[in-house]
Formats: sequence, C-alpha cells, structure tokens
Amino acid sequence: MAYSQMEAWIREFPRQGLWTPEGPAEIPVGDIRHVVLAGMGGSAVGGDLVQALFEPDLAVPFRVHRDYGLPPLPEGTLTVVVSYSGNTEETLSAFAEARRRGFPVVAASSGGRLREEARQAGIPWFVLPEGYAPRATLGYMLTLLTHLFARLRVLPPEAPHRLQEAFRWLASQEEAMTREDALPRELAEKYYLRLPLLYASRRFFPVVERWRAQLNENAKTLAHTASLPEMNHNEIAGLYHPHRVLAATWATFLHFPEDPPRLKARIQHTAELIYEDVLGWNVIQPEGPTIEARFLWSLWVGDWTSLYLARAYEEDPVAIPRITELKTRLQKEHPA
Ligand code: F6R
Repeated sequence: MAYSQMEAWIREFPRQGLWTPEGPAEIPVGDIRHVVLAGMGGSAVGGDLVQALFEPDLAVPFRVHRDYGLPPLPEGTLTVVVSYSGNTEETLSAFAEARRRGFPVVAASSGGRLREEARQAGIPWFVLPEGYAPRATLGYMLTLLTHLFARLRVLPPEAPHRLQEAFRWLASQEEAMTREDALPRELAEKYYLRLPLLYASRRFFPVVERWRAQLNENAKTLAHTASLPEMNHNEIAGLYHPHRVLAATWATFLHFPEDPPRLKARIQHTAELIYEDVLGWNVIQPEGPTIEARFLWSLWVGDWTSLYLARAYEEDPVAIPRITELKTRLQKEHPA
C-alpha cells in the first residue's frame, strides 16, 4: 500500500514540474544582493539543487542554511524559508532570526505555523500542495524556487521555461525508469546488501546527496557521498580499511558532460585504483537533450532506485518512524 503511494509520487515527478505556483501578487523585497534558503531535509534540498543546476546563471551569491537561526550574512539578505509541514523547529527559528535582523523574507509551506506566522507578519507566503511526504514534493520545490528566483531576477527570466521543457521531456523517460532492465532496477540490485558510495563533481554533488537522502528515507539504508575532485585528495586513501566493510560497497560515479574536462580522467583513475577494494563500481552518464533534462533524469534515477531498493529490503518507503519519533520526543520535551 505505502509502496504504491511512494511509487505514485515518484511517477508524478515530471508532472509536478508543470505546476504553476500560486503566491502573492506583490513581493516587496527591494534590491537583492544575497540570498539564503533556510530549510531542513526534503525542504532544503531543492535549494541546493537549484543552485547546482543554475550555477552559471545565478545573479547573486546564494547559500542554503540547515540549522537553527542564521549564520552571519550581509545586511538585507533575502531569506527564503521553506518547510513543507510549516512546523520544523530549526526552520521556524531561522524564520524568527531573519525577522529579528530585519531581512526581507519569503516563506513557503503547505500550512502549519510558518503559514500562520507569515500571515500575521504580512510576509509573502507560497502554498505547496498538501498531502505529500516532503521529499516527494521535489518537482514542486524546484518549480517554485525557479519561478520565484526568476521573478526576483536572481535567475534569468527564461529559467522556468527551460526547467519546464526538461520536465516535459522527462515524462518520456518513464518506461526507461520502470521496465525490466531499467537502470534504477540494476542499481537497486547492485546496492542490495551493500553500502552505496556515491560520487559526483563539486557542482553536481547535491544530486548524489539527494540520492543518499532518498536511499536513507525510502529504502532505510545507509549510503555514503563524496565529491570530486576533493575525494582524490583524502577519501581515495581511506577506501582501504576496514577491508570487510569495503568488500560490501558499490561505488557509483555520476559524470555530467558539464563537469570540468579533467573529471573524466579522474573518475577513470580513481576507479582503477580502488577496484580491488570495493566490490564493484560503475559510471552513470546522465541522459537528456539539455543540462536541465540530464539533471532531472539523474534525480529521477535516484528516486526510482530508492523505491526498488525499499522493495528489495521489504521496507515501507513512505514511513520514516525514527524521524517522526524524534520530532515527537523533542516536541514533548520543549514545545516550541
Ligand atoms: C520527509 C523528509 C524530511 C523533512 C524534514 C523537514 O519526507 O524528507 O527530510 O523534509 O524533516 O520537515 P519539513 O519539510 O516539513 O520542514
């Protein structure tokens, strides 16, 4: 039952990209010179992904903040506060801190306290569709952030259109994600009873971070991530002990054509140097006609893989009992 619910959400990903966000007519935020997105988990990852995808197009510095409060930031930093439930304590604390500092704020949630507090303070608030697990709203999150940033001129005006075209193309890939010999099924087989080691370039690292989170929450498995070229300067040496752990790992390198030219050689040499210590490795070259399409394709591969792996482990991909229990315990101890 829950399996088919998560399957339906994952299948829906390309359609989420055709959604038109509804928000306030006016967003009086003034001249934007710096942007921070505050959120946690499934509500923060959209920020990292938009930053990675549109890195060459971003008009101002942008960062994602996953913690209480806010770090030191330039005066007047636009703070985009995202919490799907609207009730995440770290995110509400960042919201309060942005207001305390007098920063311009934009909020997004499906409801919860964030909506109430934004309403009371007259802060622009965007609604996210209700009834999902936060991590299953990535298509909405990417669409919302791209629209918002284009509207605020943080991204070029054509960015939402480029993204939407890629979502349209992605819909044609459903068969490739689900058929008997689909790549995500193959990956789930490789990762079953093993620890996936997921590598990508610095720019596209958030893609493998999304994979990790989906594998954690949907398949209830540990997964490890690191970026290239940085891991060539440390982790590559450590891919040696403990032998028994390494013997049960599978390394996947995600290699985009947009990666620095030297990445290809780095991946090849890294794989050759570690192949006797890991159980196996593979390289994935994202498919699609544009960078946006390749980006979404690689996210979708990760989502489907996490679903198939949940089935292999006989885990409910929707339920996240530990996360829920932790939130309940904290709430009981110190009601926010
Ligand atoms: C659940 C999920 C979590 C939540 C996180 C923050 O699907 O992905 O990582 O996103 O616990 O909660 P929200 O998104 O409600 O602020």
